[in-house]
Amino acid sequence: SGSVPIPPGIYPDLETLGTHCRGCVRCDLSETRTNVVVSRGSPTAPVLIIGEGPGQQEDEQGVPFVGKSGQLLEKILESVRFNTETDVYICNIVKCRPPENRVPTTAEVAACKGYLLEQIRMVDPKIILLTGATALKALLGVKSGISKVRGQWMEWEGRLCMPIFHPAYLLRNPSRDKGSPKWLMWQDIQAVRAKVN
Ligand code: URA
Repeated sequence: SGSVPIPPGIYPDLETLGTHCRGCVRCDLSETRTNVVVSRGSPTAPVLIIGEGPGQQEDEQGVPFVGKSGQLLEKILESVRFNTETDVYICNIVKCRPPENRVPTTAEVAACKGYLLEQIRMVDPKIILLTGATALKALLGVKSGISKVRGQWMEWEGRLCMPIFHPAYLLRNPSRDKGSPKWLMWQDIQAVRAKVN
């Protein structure tokens, strides 16, 4: 059940994790999902990006960040010459779509967390990017609003992390003026790029 932790190291590789994940019934989201959304990108990527949870299109296709938010995320990554197939590994806090795209509950996050921890352990990225407050709170336990902390380098289990705006937030705030969310995101992604080189 969802309250029983996933023991670290049980999956020999990411492919096996994916297979287990796609049969998961650890929480109630398994009853309403169409597809489990495990990951996209490279299993050896230097940058691991964590979203909140699948939306409708992700649920339908079984691939993270393929909708409007995902298209913007790709544009942002490509703007600093990150190859979205080789330079990043993209996943979510919860692997199944919450109904009506509501924020995942504490129980759903807890039930799914072991998958994320094993993804991080096996990808072993140089940098983890947390998109939005839900991802930041779920992994690091940091409850700050994202505007306060985005762009700050943080450490989690000896790993370099940075919280950034969620692309859906940027879609609701289209200004590119100096100091705008989009402008700040551009600063943040350039700082990430500089660290990866
Ligand atoms: N938003 C997310 O947080 N994750 C996705 O996969 C898609 C949209």
